[in-house]
Amino acid sequence: MSTVLVANPKGGSGKTTLATNLAGYFASRGKHVVLSDMDRQRSALQWLERRPYKLPLIHGQDGRGKYTSSLSADWTIIDSPAGLRGDKLSQAVSEANFIIVPMQPSAFDIGATKEFLEVLQQEKSVRKGRAFVAMIGMRVDQRTRAAQTLQAFLAQSGFPAVGNLRNAQIYALAAEQGASLFDIRPSQVSRDLQQWAPLLHWLVKQSKQQK
Ligand SMILES: Nc1ncnc2c1ncn2[C@@H]1O[C@H](COP(=O)(O)OP(=O)(O)OP(=O)(O)O)[C@@H](O)[C@H]1O
Ligand SMILES: [Mg+2]
Repeated sequence: MSTVLVANPKGGSGKTTLATNLAGYFASRGKHVVLSDMDRQRSALQWLERRPYKLPLIHGQDGRGKYTSSLSADWTIIDSPAGLRGDKLSQAVSEANFIIVPMQPSAFDIGATKEFLEVLQQEKSVRKGRAFVAMIGMRVDQRTRAAQTLQAFLAQSGFPAVGNLRNAQIYALAAEQGASLFDIRPSQVSRDLQQWAPLLHWLVKQSKQQK
């Protein structure tokens, strides 16, 4: 089993969007998925409550208490709250095989994320190569200067960048319906699905290597 922590202490960076869609992807591939929510706002669990029963099953877990790994899960996806730091961050990182850091192209996001990456680099499991970190751009409009600044930041971040997701209404629409992009007819979201490919490929490849 593999555990993916989605984290960035910057509020609104896209953590819940990333976590719920990742859970939806693995569920759509027939995997046993646990979506664990560390956030007291419970956004990921509320998304799960809205999820129609006919869509592929995802198990919810309140991730605020002591971590209870579900041994039968193929993939556990942890959604974390804004402001995650200190012992709680260390604890979550120590449980993860992968840490995905979503970030938006703005100077504020870059400042906050830079600090976070420095903290992550000091975490034991990251230093020892037990947990792999990757970055992903969220709501990126490639035509903008902000997107270029983000790419330059990602290139020197010391961690692999596994793509950029564009700003698309479908993310909000799917979220309202308890769905992920992978629950929608592929022809309607083909461009967005393509943007997910590098992240999904990276996760699956790394998880096979860890076994
Ligand atoms: N690629 C995208 N395209 C369009 N909207 C997006 C995209 N990614 C995220 N959003 C929207 O941005 C907002 C913030 O995203 P989200 O809630 O996932 O961030 P978060 O990091 O979980 O926030 P918090 O720190 O409050 O938990 C949401 O309204 C979400 O629908
Ligand atoms: Mg959130």
